[in-house]
Amino acid sequence: MAYIFSLICLSIYLINDVESLQMYVTNNGPSVIGSKITFTAVVTDYSNEFLKYSFYDNAQPQHDQSFINSTGIMNWTVEYPKRFYEAGEYTTTVFLMKNFIGIWINVATSSTTFNLTESLNGNLRMSQSNKLRPNRYVSVNQPVIHYVQLPDNEMEFLKRNASKVVTYWFKDCTLIDQTTDLSLNYTYTDLMGDHYIEALVVADNLPLPPLTTTTTSTTTTTTTTTTTTITTPKPHTSSLPPANVTVLSNNTHKLVRRSVSSKSKKVGSPLNFVCYNTSIVPIGDTYTYGHYQETISVADPVATINITGLNWLQHGDLLRLNVKYSGTPPFQYCVQYKVGQYNVTGNETCNTMSTTNSTEFPLIHYFSGSDQHTVVVIVENLLTKNVSRATINIYKVTVHAQLSVIVVPVVFCLLAVILVVFGIAFYQHRSRYTIEVADFDFGQAHLDYKTFTERLRDSFRNALNFRHDDTDPLTSNARYDSMT
Ligand SMILES: *[C@@H]1O[C@H](CO)[C@@H](O)[C@H](O)[C@H]1NC(C)=O
Ligand SMILES: *[C@@H]1O[C@H](CO)[C@@H](O)[C@H](O)[C@H]1NC(C)=O
Ligand SMILES: *[C@@H]1O[C@H](CO)[C@@H](O)[C@H](O)[C@H]1NC(C)=O
Ligand SMILES: *[C@@H]1O[C@H](CO)[C@@H](O)[C@H](O)[C@H]1NC(C)=O
Ligand SMILES: *[C@@H]1O[C@H](CO)[C@@H](O)[C@H](O)[C@H]1NC(C)=O
Ligand SMILES: *[C@@H]1O[C@H](CO)[C@@H](O)[C@H](O)[C@H]1NC(C)=O
Ligand SMILES: *[C@@H]1O[C@H](CO)[C@@H](O)[C@H](O)[C@H]1NC(C)=O
Ligand SMILES: *[C@@H]1O[C@H](CO)[C@@H](O)[C@H](O)[C@H]1NC(C)=O
Ligand SMILES: *[C@@H]1O[C@H](CO)[C@@H](O)[C@H](O)[C@H]1NC(C)=O
Ligand SMILES: *[C@@H]1O[C@H](CO)[C@@H](O)[C@H](O)[C@H]1NC(C)=O
Ligand SMILES: *[C@@H]1O[C@H](CO)[C@@H](O)[C@H](O)[C@H]1NC(C)=O
Ligand SMILES: *[C@@H]1O[C@H](CO)[C@@H](O)[C@H](O)[C@H]1NC(C)=O
Repeated sequence: MAYIFSLICLSIYLINDVESLQMYVTNNGPSVIGSKITFTAVVTDYSNEFLKYSFYDNAQPQHDQSFINSTGIMNWTVEYPKRFYEAGEYTTTVFLMKNFIGIWINVATSSTTFNLTESLNGNLRMSQSNKLRPNRYVSVNQPVIHYVQLPDNEMEFLKRNASKVVTYWFKDCTLIDQTTDLSLNYTYTDLMGDHYIEALVVADNLPLPPLTTTTTSTTTTTTTTTTTTITTPKPHTSSLPPANVTVLSNNTHKLVRRSVSSKSKKVGSPLNFVCYNTSIVPIGDTYTYGHYQETISVADPVATINITGLNWLQHGDLLRLNVKYSGTPPFQYCVQYKVGQYNVTGNETCNTMSTTNSTEFPLIHYFSGSDQHTVVVIVENLLTKNVSRATINIYKVTVHAQLSVIVVPVVFCLLAVILVVFGIAFYQHRSRYTIEVADFDFGQAHLDYKTFTERLRDSFRNALNFRHDDTDPLTSNARYDSMT
């Protein structure tokens, strides 16, 4: 009884423990048929115990495999050979099991879907000056490295099962080059041009023919003066339809496909590609194709930023600079003001940028401090970002100017004070003198009273003959008065 009870308790404990296990499954698809796909089962919150992972896919023929491991992560890699599998969507399911008294109990189930594709996946990339282009714009007159970036498993497939990989490069539906390293080095010289670039990767899944086997392909040419013929080597003619020869005519810069096998018209074949009507690529079941396209625009980068204007400023003056640059609009720009010297790193960024189509803009700023400042100008277009700077020196008014400003008013103030002092002193002196005279006059006036007319007459007389009567104190006094 106690045994059964403890067993139930243990079961409840185990079930509770077991239910906490979570698992998710991912895959590294989509991938071209023929390549391998890796499925990854990840158990979260696992506790270092042994777990059994059982993988199953739903492809025909089916794959299944089980692993017992104490790691919380398990990889399962499956190959899907071309001769057995078709392109399409498949599902892989993982059953996670835990050992309980010698019995594996399923504790979690998870699945993932993946696609097997007819053609190669990946992307067409472009780089300039060793930098990947983040958009479809490229700089004029600068080599552009176009390259097909394949997923790791497809790259591994080509390395393992392709004797030859040729990439045909088309520019505006004209073959411009064919390379074996999935890349093209091409320089665009037409500014503001748009080009439709296509890359057609053709991988031959047959082994290289033995050196003794010689293949002769007949070449039919159109009636053009110069023709380039691209023949496709077909060593295993017995098992495969003969390769159809295609001709590249130099006159028209068009490729003429002579004949097409019906087999290659199926979905995913390069015949469905836009410009393929006129293509030259070999067609057959033993080839793996990849088609990539991009419309690119050729533009001018922001090359130099010229900042012109006065960079020695008197304190209080407005900074007025003109910023000029070249390149293809639209431009995004911003300005930063830094105190002191600042060395540009090139990766300066602004939170907000202004947009303009003009190749210049004025820069007006007021610096409150009187120091050295650095103006950092950031201009970018769809191609490049450029950062330039200008050092601004703010100077205070010179010592000479300061003196004149201070000394002149001080001197004038002093002069004014002196004048006032002298004026007061002189006035006091004169009034003392006149008071004495007035006393004297007063006495005189009281001695002989004169009417106004008499005094006027006397004054006239005195004025007329005072030169002859110098001793008369009154007249001398009058002369003094007349002089003041
Ligand atoms: C568990 O997986 C790891 C890594 O895949 C491997 O090194 C190890 O041998 C595996 N252990 C067992 C018991 O299979
Ligand atoms: C499992 O596969 C992934 C993706 O392919 C890989 O990054 C990882 O290193 C693999 N882990 C192990 C243990 O093999
Ligand atoms: C598989 O391809 C189909 C068609 O292109 C697509 O609808 C589907 O989402 C793909 N599935 C996965 C898992 O990528
Ligand atoms: C691309 O071509 C230019 C000139 O044709 C050459 O200078 C440059 O080195 C080439 N770049 C690469 C990566 O091959
Ligand atoms: C590619 O795989 C196929 C089928 O597995 C095989 O017949 C062929 O020889 C392989 N080709 C190369 C180049 O390994
Ligand atoms: C092909 O045409 C181009 C431009 O018309 C010319 O420069 C080139 O020499 C021609 N190639 C041959 C092989 O005649
Ligand atoms: C081209 O393909 C057609 C149809 O598959 C075939 O009849 C013809 O013989 C082929 N031509 C050459 C030159 O191989
Ligand atoms: C390709 O062929 C289709 C029909 O066969 C035609 O409509 C189209 O114009 C052709 N494209 C080119 C670039 O010749
Ligand atoms: C910048 O200045 C240089 C030298 O003064 C001049 O050659 C260049 O054309 C100027 N660039 C612009 C965009 O004004
Ligand atoms: C800027 O660079 C110059 C020379 O490279 C160096 O002498 C100076 O100290 C640097 N200034 C700052 C603020 O980093
Ligand atoms: C800017 O680039 C320099 C080196 O060129 C680097 O040390 C610095 O961390 C970068 N700053 C930012 C914000 O990315
Ligand atoms: C710049 O020019 C483009 C096209 O001419 C126009 O659509 C855009 O509004 C202009 N932008 C500015 C900021 O003027």
